[in-house]
Amino acid sequence: MKGWLIVAGVILCCALLFYWFYRTQTVWVESAPYRRSVEKPAKTLVVVYSRTGNTLGVAKVVASYFDADLLTIDAPLYTRDYKGQRIAEKHADDEVTTTPITHDSVDISQYDLVLLCSPTWWYRPAVPLWSFVENYDFAGKAIFLMMTGNSRIKEGYIAKFATLVEKQNGKFLGMHFLQRGRVYWQKEPTALEEEALAELRERNKLWPVDVEGKIK
Ligand SMILES: Cc1cc2nc3c(=O)[nH]c(=O)nc-3n(C[C@H](O)[C@H](O)[C@H](O)COP(=O)(O)O)c2cc1C
Repeated sequence: MKGWLIVAGVILCCALLFYWFYRTQTVWVESAPYRRSVEKPAKTLVVVYSRTGNTLGVAKVVASYFDADLLTIDAPLYTRDYKGQRIAEKHADDEVTTTPITHDSVDISQYDLVLLCSPTWWYRPAVPLWSFVENYDFAGKAIFLMMTGNSRIKEGYIAKFATLVEKQNGKFLGMHFLQRGRVYWQKEPTALEEEALAELRERNKLWPVDVEGKIK
C-alpha cells in the first residue's frame, strides 16, 4: 500500500510539473498598453515578436525609453498551443529563417535605430525575427538585438543573426540576453523590465539617437 502511495505521489508531481510547464509555454502574459508621448515622427523603431507576451512587455519598456514606434509581428504557424509549440521547436532546431509573418506596414527609411526584441528558441532568436530581417534593407540603420529566455543563448547563433543583419546592410550594434529563469523559478516582469532599462542606459553612448528619439 505504501509503495502505491509513493508511485501515485510521483505521478501527481510529474503531472503538475508538466501542467505548469505547458502553462508557461501557452498562456499569454499581459502588459500595460504602450503609447508614444511625442507627436513628431520617431527616429527609433522597436520590432517585437512574442509568442506568450514576455518579450512584448520588455519591448514596450524599450520603446518608451526611446519614445520609439512599436511594431509587433505575428507568425501564424506558432500558435499558443501544443501544436504551435512543437512547430516552433522543430523550426528553431532546424535553424529555419523563413516563416510567414504579418505586421502593420512600416517605412523603415524613417528610422536611424532599430531594436529587435525576440524570445530565445533553441539558443537563437525566434524564427519570425529572422524573417523580418530578411524582408528589409537596413542601409544606414543601427540594429540592436534584445532577447528574453529561460536559460541561455549560443554565441554562434547570434553571430549568424548579426551576419544576416549585415547582409541586409544594417550595422549590428550587439545584443543583450535577459534571462528570466527556468520554469520553476522565474523573475517577475518588472524585474526583467528594470534590467532591460539598466542595459539600455549603460549603452547610451552606443545609440545614434538620444533617449527622446532625436538624432544626436
Ligand atoms: C520552442 C521554444 C524553444 C525555447 N528555447 C529556449 C532556449 O534555447 N533558451 C532559453 O533561454 N529559453 C528558451 N525558451 C524559452 C523562451 O525563450 C522564454 O520563455 C521567452 O521569454 C518567451 O518569450 P515570449 O513570452 O515573448 O514568447 C524556448 C521557448 C520555446 C517556445
